[in-house]
Amino acid sequence: MIMRIDVITLFPEFIESSTKIGVVGRAFERGLIEIATWNPRDFADGNYRKADDRTCGGGPGMVMMIEPLRRALAAIRAASGAEEAKAIYLSPQGTRLDQAKVAELAQRDHLVLLSGRYEGVDERFLQHAVAEEISIGDYVLSGGELAAAVLIDAIGRLQEGVLNDADSAVQDSFSNGLLDCPHYTRPVRDEWGDVPAVLLSGDHAAIRRWRLKQSLGRTWLRRPDLLQRVALDKKTRALLEEFQDEHAGKTMPGRESGD
Ligand SMILES: C[S@@+](CC[C@H](N)C(=O)[O-])C[C@H]1O[C@@H](n2cnc3c(N)ncnc32)[C@H](O)[C@@H]1O
Repeated sequence: MIMRIDVITLFPEFIESSTKIGVVGRAFERGLIEIATWNPRDFADGNYRKADDRTCGGGPGMVMMIEPLRRALAAIRAASGAEEAKAIYLSPQGTRLDQAKVAELAQRDHLVLLSGRYEGVDERFLQHAVAEEISIGDYVLSGGELAAAVLIDAIGRLQEGVLNDADSAVQDSFSNGLLDCPHYTRPVRDEWGDVPAVLLSGDHAAIRRWRLKQSLGRTWLRRPDLLQRVALDKKTRALLEEFQDEHAGKTMPGRESGD
């Protein structure tokens, strides 16, 4: 299944350039994802192709107008054949994005993303044409393009056939509810330390055990909130306890407790 992503944005070149790079660029090139951009200005009236107007009630800032957005969405519906398609609005007021949400969105075959600018989008468009709002964090960006690019990247790398073995997502942070374990490469010996011996042992069971233990330990040290949401079996809990005994008093690897 090829995933289609339509992005409504006043800055299509931003989305176009960010989707040419890296893993998502590869997916795009291989035809595993289709990405189309739609500029509301192309659907606006008048010589100036005005897609925004002053905020009602006075005060600073402009608001993206309904009509150019409505026409852009109609064009997307016609081009994709998805007559009922609604948009996902990237917004600081939306549900905070996490890997579970990314995995859910990655299953869909069509997404319409709406990037806002200025003060945002006329509320009536949000009420009628937006199915959900997603935030990439509790801070305010000047536009939704970066947020859309974040979402496209996270979703794109989960599409079948996109990742090579070398950048497999299976052990990435959050894929099993835990943070990823530390990684090392050559040289084996360095003035800043040696690669842990177990990783050079060739003993795959021992390596798996070490990785899981580090993963559990890191999550405990850095994101204890995540640990509370995963169900650990007896063996896994024992592994975590082993790590905890070895690291009692620490908050983050390499940092003193109380940092
Ligand atoms: C300056 S912001 C508007 C913020 C809006 N007045 C508010 O406070 O909710 C302009 C656009 O950036 C995008 N944006 C800003 N912060 C975001 C975030 N944390 N996550 C996703 N999109 C964001 C949205 O598309 C928004 O319409």
